[in-house]
Amino acid sequence: MSTQIQSIRPLTIRSLQKFKRDGRKIVALTAYDYTFARLVEQSGEVDVVLVGDSLGNVIQGQDTTIPVTVDDIIYHSRAVRRGLKRAHLVGDMPFMSYQVSTEQALKNAMRLMQEGHVHSVKLEGGREQAEVIRRLTAAGIPVMGHLGLTPQSIHQLGGHRVQGRGQNAHQRILEDAQILQEAGAYAIVLECVPAALALEISQSIRIPTIGIGAGEGCDGQILVIQDLLGLGGDFNPRFVRRFAQLGDAVVDAVRDYGQAVRGGTFPSAEETYDPIAV
Ligand code: KIV
Repeated sequence: MSTQIQSIRPLTIRSLQKFKRDGRKIVALTAYDYTFARLVEQSGEVDVVLVGDSLGNVIQGQDTTIPVTVDDIIYHSRAVRRGLKRAHLVGDMPFMSYQVSTEQALKNAMRLMQEGHVHSVKLEGGREQAEVIRRLTAAGIPVMGHLGLTPQSIHQLGGHRVQGRGQNAHQRILEDAQILQEAGAYAIVLECVPAALALEISQSIRIPTIGIGAGEGCDGQILVIQDLLGLGGDFNPRFVRRFAQLGDAVVDAVRDYGQAVRGGTFPSAEETYDPIAV
């Protein structure tokens, strides 16, 4: 009898596209370090993990994602990848890492794949990114698009606001989704768009849509893990559901620790090597 070694392989873009055809929702989440990647994987529920440039906000404490660099994404992706088994790992292309030229985009995407060990990359923007997407996919780099509220353009958009309201804006995002698909994108994040637009896009393209603030009509959903866990501070947009309140639990635990140290109850004899007999 032959022994079969069953190894868990990461989901491919083909598996994610099949989920859409099968009507199975894609569960996506951000992660930025090994510990959370391991826990996310342990849940057995998450198909896609994104090392988002949202790390500029939630890890670095920046006001925007604009200061995030390719090196930052590589550093965090390497750590996250070590915690994953089945989930497909996506690395965000940071601000100005793909806009200057297609050659520069190719070099930076190559670094995310080779040094960050991601399975695919994500970049923001519509028709203006079609050429870059064609070039990356021709080179064998799978690309996830990102339409609607694109945080790297926050200063041009004039703040965090819903995109695609009104006939012209609606039509433009709908067309952009089709253009990204034709350029070779394997999936598209839809951020902060009206639910009806997200549904129309999801029904009009073959590739999966992954929504954040885009309603239930998308083929999957993504959240920033700090928001889901209640670690996100005061940032509480309408689309976030806090599935836990870990922020409060952390503050309570650290307070208890401080009081135990000051009160002399930590460390106890059980927590000490060769304790001094009293
Ligand atoms: O950077 C990020 O985390 C993202 C998701 C919110 C989609 O782009």
